[in-house]
Amino acid sequence: MTPTRARAGANIALIKYWGKRGAGDLNLPATGSISITLNELETVTTVTPDTALSGDVFSLNGALIEDARVLRLVSRMRAAYPAMASYCRIESVNSFPTAAGLASSASGFAALVLALDAAFELQAPTDELARWARIGSGSAARSLLGGFCRMHRGQAQDGHDAIPEQLLDHTAWPLEVVVAITQTQAKGTSSRKGMTHTMATSPYYSAWVRHNEQVLDEAEKAIVSRDFDRLSELSEASALQMHASALAAEPAVLYWNGSSVECLHAIRELRQSGHGVFFTMDAGPQVKAVCLPGHGESVATRLQQVPGVQSVVSSALGPGGCRI
Ligand code: PMV
Repeated sequence: MTPTRARAGANIALIKYWGKRGAGDLNLPATGSISITLNELETVTTVTPDTALSGDVFSLNGALIEDARVLRLVSRMRAAYPAMASYCRIESVNSFPTAAGLASSASGFAALVLALDAAFELQAPTDELARWARIGSGSAARSLLGGFCRMHRGQAQDGHDAIPEQLLDHTAWPLEVVVAITQTQAKGTSSRKGMTHTMATSPYYSAWVRHNEQVLDEAEKAIVSRDFDRLSELSEASALQMHASALAAEPAVLYWNGSSVECLHAIRELRQSGHGVFFTMDAGPQVKAVCLPGHGESVATRLQQVPGVQSVVSSALGPGGCRI
């Protein structure tokens, strides 16, 4: 029983996904989203089918864990594909801190479905794998594609049209990303919990959904025409509006620490002094700086000096997930 490996890069949303539509557990997004896939921050997953096993076994960064979401997705896929006859060993390794707002679940579920597809020779088309990845984590379907990706909200109840589409590949506009890590331990409120609570209690949530869905076409236009200034405005607004809807929940969902806020100020100052850079933040305290080609190094040097920043990680944009 040969081990089979697949990799997928983390992705960072520029136009955010925050909240679900419909009942059930298909993880259908309330709005579409637009993301960039990273090269250096990745998950590598090895799947080894083993007829001697009496259940699937999952390890993350070398430690065996009972991850209900992973095990549930694998058994759901097994029920759909007769070729997944035996149980398997799944070994997943992240090249960055898990659960600290660096989208490890996105690269993790994307690498998982790709490795299962390869190990059991499912030969499922990308859209089909994207639907499985989305059930694992709403943002994971985007990590199957490289470069710039638009995830569609879709209309169907069965989610067949809630799938990602590539807008540009990673070489077409080679932006650079610098992540300022302001905290290394796992975050307090998962994105899943944070968005569910925001939907249930935030008076700003419906405005968020209405507005975010409207800016997708404009952001797509800015990407396709390489309009960095417009993309900066739309992306910073989407990130802050997502956090504003969470801050307005009762009790508030607050992902930032003091250093996160210092990083946002530093990035604004860098932009005023002529650097091509904008910020975004997800469900955690890390700050992501998206830079024009050639600007990443000076942005990294500046962010490293912000009090409370523990380290910075730089990445190019990368290709979609694949078997390795
Ligand atoms: O896929 P999830 O459940 O981890 O949700 C991701 C939510 C954000 O990272 C905050 C935004 C996004 O679109 O990636």
